[in-house]
Amino acid sequence: MTTLLAEVKNGIAVLTLHRPDKLNALNYLLVDALQAALDELEADPRVRAVILTGSGERAFSAGADIAEFAGSVEAGAERALREFVRRGQRLTRRIEAYPKPLIVAVNGIAFGAGCEITEAAPLALASDRARFAKPEIRLGFPPPWGGTQRLPRHIGRKRALQMILTAEPIDARQAASIGLVNRVVEHASLLAEAHLMADQIARHSPAAVAACLRSVTRGLNVSIDEGLAIEATQFASMVGTPDIRQGIETFLSRRERGSANRARG
Ligand code: COA
Repeated sequence: MTTLLAEVKNGIAVLTLHRPDKLNALNYLLVDALQAALDELEADPRVRAVILTGSGERAFSAGADIAEFAGSVEAGAERALREFVRRGQRLTRRIEAYPKPLIVAVNGIAFGAGCEITEAAPLALASDRARFAKPEIRLGFPPPWGGTQRLPRHIGRKRALQMILTAEPIDARQAASIGLVNRVVEHASLLAEAHLMADQIARHSPAAVAACLRSVTRGLNVSIDEGLAIEATQFASMVGTPDIRQGIETFLSRRERGSANRARG
């Protein structure tokens, strides 16, 4: 059964979580399909950016599939960690460190793992219908796919703990105001806006985009000195490439043409 839809057009890939009757709950099959799709899109040089969204009118994703992971939990800690926790942590880590720009387009409910994917993603747009929550506490455990680690780093400890400990949802505007998503857009134009953002990024050098992503993501959780060393390494990786040469030459030749025109006029 297809639980993930994939489409590539004009260099932009759209991945759609597709279990609408289960509010796109992430079962193991869907997590594994998403990992495989991300591997494929990384290797495909035509793909300049990836948009991840959910099927149907209601949800981006209502989280990990409770009916399924209940079996792993029942089997004890070792199996729960192997089948459920590490699988999910691998997915959110992959999304966080993805070398191509990845934009999550949150089209509705983003609860549990749906929220954790949004936290991990480098960029996110929310439909005005989106709602975010961390309901794991109601099930009797802490968020396990990075949800206790990234959110406090991104939005601050107290705001994160309010969401983690109360399980109360926040709406799209609140999510934007605390920096969980970049922007709120009208529901009907969510994918168009995500494409616009993807196109704005995709017009730049893919190597420079990857260097920016690596620099920010790797630098986020280290000391400023280590971060600056990462930044320097990423800069150095561009020196000598046609991308940096062309970028600088284009700017300088435009200025030269401009001053020649001014001198003539
Ligand atoms: N795992 C498995 N199935 C899920 C699911 C999840 N996380 N979230 C929703 N579903 C399924 C429901 O079981 C239901 O399937 P069914 O019709 O076959 O019984 C279907 O999706 C629709 O959900 P339903 O609960 O009927 O919709 P609702 O509008 O009444 O409530 C939510 C929506 C999101 C509030 C509710 O589904 C919910 O609380 N889901 C769990 C959220 C959660 O705890 N996520 C974290 C998991 S770690």
